This record gives sequence, C-alpha cells and structure tokens, in this order.
Amino acid sequence: MSAMGDEDVTQEDHEGRGDRDSQTEGLLDVLTRGELTVQGRIREASNAVLLCTVTHDGVSVDCVYKPVKGERPLWDFPDGNLAQRERAAFLVSEATGWGLIPATVLRDGPYGEGMVQQWIEAAEGEEPEGNLLALVEGEEAGEGWKPVALAEVGEGRTALLVHADDPRLRRLAVLDAVINNGDRKGGHLLPAPDGRLYGIDHGVSFHTEDKLRTLLWGWAGEPLTAEARAVLASLALLLADGAPLATRLAELITPVELDAVRGRVADLLRTGEHPRPSGEWPSIPWPPV
Ligand SMILES: Nc1ncnc2c1ncn2[C@@H]1O[C@H](COP(=O)(O)OP(=O)(O)O)[C@@H](O)[C@H]1O
Ligand SMILES: [Mg+2]
Repeated sequence: MSAMGDEDVTQEDHEGRGDRDSQTEGLLDVLTRGELTVQGRIREASNAVLLCTVTHDGVSVDCVYKPVKGERPLWDFPDGNLAQRERAAFLVSEATGWGLIPATVLRDGPYGEGMVQQWIEAAEGEEPEGNLLALVEGEEAGEGWKPVALAEVGEGRTALLVHADDPRLRRLAVLDAVINNGDRKGGHLLPAPDGRLYGIDHGVSFHTEDKLRTLLWGWAGEPLTAEARAVLASLALLLADGAPLATRLAELITPVELDAVRGRVADLLRTGEHPRPSGEWPSIPWPPV
C-alpha cells in the first residue's frame, strides 16, 4: 500500500464540503462573468489552448480558454462540441463530490464560444504528473504501485509501466469510467500544491461506445471501494430523468450519450468492479505522458 490508504482523511474532511462548494461557486462566477484577457498560447496542445486571466469585481483568476473554433476535428466525435464535453465532465465530477476537475464553464471570449477552466498551478518541484507514474524494470510493480502494462522502451528492452496506488487516482479511475474518458494520459494529471489532484482535457469523453483509454488500469477487475459504490449510487439518482444534473447534461450531450452515462453507472454498480479494457480499442494512450 502507498502512504495514502483508503481510510485516510480526505481533503473534504479538513475543509468541509460546504466551504469547497461555496469557493467553487465564487470561482464559477468569476470564470463566467469576468473579463477575459489572453496572455499566451500553450504550444504543445493539439487544440488551441490559450492561457488567460479573467477578472471580475477586482478578483483575477488564471484560466485556460479553448475556443470551439480552435478545436481540431476528430474522426469519431462530432465537430465543435469538445468544449461541451469538458463542461459536462466537470458537472459529473462535481456531482461525485470528489472535485477532481477544475472549475469549467462555457462562455464567449475574444475568439468566440469556448470552454474556460481554472488554471491549476503545478505543485512545486514536481513534473505535472508528479510521482504518480513510473517505468520500472522487471515484472513486479512494487510496494505502493499498480501495474498498467509492459512497454517497449527501445533497443528491444521492455519496462513495466506503473501508477501509484493512490486513492485520488482511484477516484479518478471511477470518474473516467463514468464519463468514458478517451484520453487519460500522464500530462492530463495535475497534482496541485494543496495536495489535491486534478484531471484535465475531457473533450473526448461521453462517446456511446466504450472508448475508455487511460493509464489508470491498476485496479481493473478489482472491487470498487465502498465509497465509490456510494458515490455511484447517488450519481444514479442524480442522473434520473428530470433530475437537475440530467437536465444540465442534456444541454451538453445527446440523449443517447446521456443514456450511455446512466448505463455505465448502472454497470459499475451491478458488477461492483473497476472496469477492464474492452479489447476493442487501444486501451492505453501512447505516449503515456
Ligand atoms: N486547467 C489547467 N491547469 C493547468 N494546466 C492546464 C490546464 N488545462 C490545460 N493545461 C495545460 O495545457 C496543456 C494542453 O491542454 P489540453 O487540455 O491537454 O489540450 P489539448 O486538448 O490540446 O490536448 C496541458 O497538457 C497542460 O499542460
Ligand atoms: Mg491534451
């Protein structure tokens, strides 16, 4: 086991769920209503990703702005609605109470409609993915680590790709299964200085077919935690026809995609297990970072 067990005190226990909710509400207000100023462009991104500040009533927040016009078309997703999927992923994350996705809104900006998301400063001295991923020699993941896959590392050598046995990652693995995340790679894991872990880049989520592509396979086939089962059971209620979450999601994804979310939640509750790779789709993003 890693230093952080299942029974460890979570961020919410320290802070109180209510405090976090009201902080998030304030942040969403600034992101939605503030004046958006572009500071620069993130070069390594495949879509247009602009680093911005947003200012409202004297409060300034750093954020990313991904204009819909800057979305690169994909063969398997409809054009011009990756931003909606990012917003939908945020709403599901909030509904879990796990707060795994930075505050995300849809709004107009200097390059038109897009998604605007709170910028997460990387924890100091850490690579974005921190100490969450590693390549190790041999076939044993080792204490505190979970195996993902054997990987070719050049010159005919292989290494074992592993991720940390970390409760934050385990929650994210459940969230990814619910939203059917097609791109959970290392660079999309952001450990923050306050100890929270955030996931980003959820544009390729909510497909109706099983597209789960992730590094977080370490728990595949293992029983879900009691906490995850409770969260999924409450999510099932929040997704019922006419419930507020369902109504909000219905504005962002299609009716069949919304039904597919319900189906995935129901499947997770029925099997009580973390999903396994479908075998019909490359299950691991490559390169993994
Ligand atoms: N909310 C955020 N906080 C901090 N960094 C971010 C955030 N969103 C994006 N980034 C940075 O910008 C890069 C590109 O963003 P990403 O959402 O992955 O765009 P793309 O859809 O083009 O892959 C990320 O790999 C990350 O380094
Ligand atoms: Mg990306």
